[in-house]
Amino acid sequence: MSTIAPFTNPTAVPRKKTIQNLRQKKERGEPITMLTGYDYPTALALDRAGIDAILVGDSLGMVVLGYENTLSVTIDEMLHHCRAVARGARSALLIGDMPFMSYQVSAEEAVRNAGRFLKEGGMDAVKLEGGSDRANSVRAIIRAGIPVMGHLGLTPQSVQMLGGFHPQGRTTETAKLMLEDALALEEAGCFSLVLESIPTRLAELISKRISIPTIGIGAGPGCDGQVLVVHDMLGFFDRFTPKFVKKYADLQGEMGRVFGEFISDVTERRFPMQEHSVEMPDEEWESLLGELAEDENK
Ligand code: KIV
Repeated sequence: MSTIAPFTNPTAVPRKKTIQNLRQKKERGEPITMLTGYDYPTALALDRAGIDAILVGDSLGMVVLGYENTLSVTIDEMLHHCRAVARGARSALLIGDMPFMSYQVSAEEAVRNAGRFLKEGGMDAVKLEGGSDRANSVRAIIRAGIPVMGHLGLTPQSVQMLGGFHPQGRTTETAKLMLEDALALEEAGCFSLVLESIPTRLAELISKRISIPTIGIGAGPGCDGQVLVVHDMLGFFDRFTPKFVKKYADLQGEMGRVFGEFISDVTERRFPMQEHSVEMPDEEWESLLGELAEDENK
């Protein structure tokens, strides 16, 4: 029997994931995976792990840039991070989050700004928050050839209207409105919806009533896929962690340990060692000392 490994081409470009692939996953009942990503090395790691989609979320305002909320994030800040992610990810579907006031003023502005995410940011699609009130803008963006993901439930750009980061859709009235919004966004042409911080039963009901995939965050297992903010799940951002986050690591703790080790290594002269240092040939060194001594005697 041959011991030669099957041919694999390490430089082969992995197959690019598309909005159709997400739809097919829903139809087959296979869970969709999405995580946020804001930089090149994280995009490389997410892509290598085989994630379906990377969301360059405006959550970067809080977890990367240290803002109080997402309201002050600008399009240029978003595009800067989108480009870094696009350089790292070759296979995952890339979705750029349209920041506050980049799509609310008019459908025309929404189309122009959505276009920047594809032209300048290297994204495949955009996401925006809101329900039936956004349907016109969603239609206009899609008419321009740009796929749109919707976002219902706890929509952080409406934090002032919502009175804080609270779960949504917990009454009959608000749950019914959310279902209507989901149907309106599906009808407007969204390829998928994020459902954030809503009751599990409501998320499951919405997921069954619409044909496009739902991606839940704090919305239970009945969604067609799941998303988390990568800095929350890694324990990289620890100012606060929402209840719905599963923390897979404690990177802040680990960074604190590593930085402390570096400080004591340097203070106690354990770093750098010879293996971290650059050498010079002995004859060059001797020649340098000789020349310096000559210069001094002149
Ligand atoms: O901005 C973001 O990261 C998001 C996710 C929480 C879905 O919108």
